[in-house]
Amino acid sequence: MTMGPAAPGREAFYRLCELVDYSDPAPMWSRICAWSEMLRRVGPNLPPRIVELGSGYSFKILFALNILEYSGELEVVDIDVDSLDAQAQVHRFLGPGFSLKISPQDVLERRSVGLICIVAGNHFVDDLIADQFSVRGLSYDDAYSDPDLHRRYWSEIVALGEEEIVRHLAPIVLGRCHAPLLLNNYASRFEQAHGLEEKVHFINSVMDRLAERLTTAGHPTEILARGGDVWLCKGRGPIEQQSARAPSGRSEG
Ligand SMILES: C[S@@+](CC[C@H](N)C(=O)[O-])C[C@H]1O[C@@H](n2cnc3c(N)ncnc32)[C@H](O)[C@@H]1O
Repeated sequence: MTMGPAAPGREAFYRLCELVDYSDPAPMWSRICAWSEMLRRVGPNLPPRIVELGSGYSFKILFALNILEYSGELEVVDIDVDSLDAQAQVHRFLGPGFSLKISPQDVLERRSVGLICIVAGNHFVDDLIADQFSVRGLSYDDAYSDPDLHRRYWSEIVALGEEEIVRHLAPIVLGRCHAPLLLNNYASRFEQAHGLEEKVHFINSVMDRLAERLTTAGHPTEILARGGDVWLCKGRGPIEQQSARAPSGRSEG
């Protein structure tokens, strides 16, 4: 697998960034490469389907699968239909060797994703929390269009405490997913620009606790820290179906 300047899709990615006037594409390309490494690590032979939760207008997993010369199906699930159209456009633009299925759906309405797949979400834990916990007097749209409102919104959520959030999220994850799961968190451009470190640390702690809960319930889950990024990696199914893996705990990947 080539990850350097000759990596599959790199030129197309930079061309796309030029077309949409996206400045400073290098950090995003490095996240795409990180995704391709992590996907390969979770499943050296990728399954026929990868399901991306809350894909929005981010095309990292799509480009990462292209680097891996994936030939199955990427299913993108989002409640925002316009963002799914954008996924389809970028898929056509890139012309990779895998197909794209778009699913305009609430991820919580999916009881099951099937066994032969990987479920992945880029920077999705905060979106899922924001979707699940409303803040009185502050709409999601307002909170996500203004940094000060965003900070206020998240301080109210942080005030609820990790335990409350994890208690709510754990059954959602546990009840739906026996497939391998890969979720990450990092300080996004927006979070870096507006000093939202408290939110980033809170999400990391929630992911730690979620990994503990999953592991205790028989789904061994690791938290990997790579640079400033945190990855939650859960293998396939309950413990008895897995080969020996490290118990939950943070390791440097
Ligand atoms: C900030 S955006 C894009 C996040 C994207 N994964 C990334 O890497 O930047 C969050 C996306 O999650 C979607 N979303 C939030 N809650 C959802 C849910 N319950 N079901 C499906 N999509 C959801 C939103 O529609 C939005 O497109």
